[in-house]
Amino acid sequence: MFNWFKKSELKKEITFDYSSIAVDMHSHVLPGIDDGAQTPEDSIELVKRMMDVGIKKIIATPHIMADYYRNTAETINAALAVLKAELETQKINIVIEAAAEHYFDETFETRINEGKLMTMGDNYVLFEFSFISKPPNAVQIIQKLKELGYKPILAHPERYPYMDNDQFRNLRDWGLSLQLNTISLTGYYGKDVKKLAEKLIDDQLVDFISSDMHHLRHADALKEALKMPYLEKVLFDYPLKNILLK
Ligand SMILES: [Fe+2]
Repeated sequence: MFNWFKKSELKKEITFDYSSIAVDMHSHVLPGIDDGAQTPEDSIELVKRMMDVGIKKIIATPHIMADYYRNTAETINAALAVLKAELETQKINIVIEAAAEHYFDETFETRINEGKLMTMGDNYVLFEFSFISKPPNAVQIIQKLKELGYKPILAHPERYPYMDNDQFRNLRDWGLSLQLNTISLTGYYGKDVKKLAEKLIDDQLVDFISSDMHHLRHADALKEALKMPYLEKVLFDYPLKNILLK
């Protein structure tokens, strides 16, 4: 009896990893160009931690923001080249590409018009809203992206307290995909965000999951998330699209 108990306790330990999704498509592991990794050494640590939990390919997505991080294809590709060289030097074998996390500010539409978006896979574009208020023209911009042949993905829907699942359902009907931050399920961003993340999963509104990795605390949370029942649910009972980016 005692042994049986011990076994059932062990099941709460980590028994699977992220190899089933294979691709992490939202992270800040490129060195020195946003609030993520600052040096190539930081980047290598984060990449190793992702590999430890089964990630086979990383699509790094540095911030592009008018106010704080004025990244361009040039700054992003340069940082990617630095990291790739370091990975090669250290003989670390992982596929790594770069796109961006575009901030939905007043420059986003201009970037769209000028064809300056950093895409991943088959023309997917990752962007984020403000944490404070909903952009008034979200539907219009999503429509525009679709018309131009892009596939828009909204980052971490669970982190916008002014949104609800009806509004997300509506935006998804316009062709938007939603990317949950895996670590939201651990309570990393607080109880409320955790609840919203679980509700998105319950309501079948999640298309991608990813780490949004900036630093080692996120790496710890990414591993911890593997113990969460909701993660098991989203990994195994869900048609996640991460694998389309392989
Ligand atoms: Fe991010």
